[in-house]
Amino acid sequence: MIRISPSVLNADQMNLAEEVKRVAHVADFIHLDVMDDKFVPNFTYGFDDTIEIVRKSVLPIDLHLMVEDADLWGPKYAAFRDEGVFSVTVHYEAVTDLERTLLSISNHGVRTGVALKPGTPASVIKDHLRLIDMILVMTVEPGFGGQSFMSEMMSKVREVRNLIEQSGREYAWLQVDGGIGLTTISEAASSGADTFVAGSSVYKSDDPAKTVAELRMRAEEAIKYTR
Ligand code: DX5
Ligand code: ZN
Repeated sequence: MIRISPSVLNADQMNLAEEVKRVAHVADFIHLDVMDDKFVPNFTYGFDDTIEIVRKSVLPIDLHLMVEDADLWGPKYAAFRDEGVFSVTVHYEAVTDLERTLLSISNHGVRTGVALKPGTPASVIKDHLRLIDMILVMTVEPGFGGQSFMSEMMSKVREVRNLIEQSGREYAWLQVDGGIGLTTISEAASSGADTFVAGSSVYKSDDPAKTVAELRMRAEEAIKYTR
């Protein structure tokens, strides 16, 4: 099954609720990027503003935390499940007690995600998979939208797919984020990804909803012939 999670990072920040509505009938979630200008050299929203965006979104929120002290922030955001926080993804590089943090996110009834920067190997998640609902393999260096897709991450995607299969956690999702668009989604899908973040390719297109539908079609085509 394919899931498309448009990122509103490069959408109209003054009208986010409207931007979400434009894709609401075709997308599965909205990917929201929280950056603190410490873990990454960019700032997006503070805590209260993030929760406000979550509240106003008609789609569930796939929250991607690019912040330091993710042990603290992950559970804090997860407490807002009833407002629309569907999943909380923390960076492996930003936590000190991964298992405790994941458990605490799950205890709020929110799906757990662990993101890996391009330099972080797949093997780090191996012993923790039982607590992870989604692994996010970054296909750009986190921090900005509109960067080029790193094809060289596909070996990591394949590795994570194998780890998921070996661990008996087939229902864990494998997300890719960064540079996903009509020309790159097939490669990511055939490498084993099933959940796709797409920012600029969706919101810089003339028809965001049509692009989401087209992305889904291409990903579905790609897996038909490879799995
Ligand atoms: C980058 C963010 C992405 C970003 C993707 O650090 O995590 O979610 O919005 O944007 P595109 O799809 O333009 O690469
Ligand atoms: Zn993201």
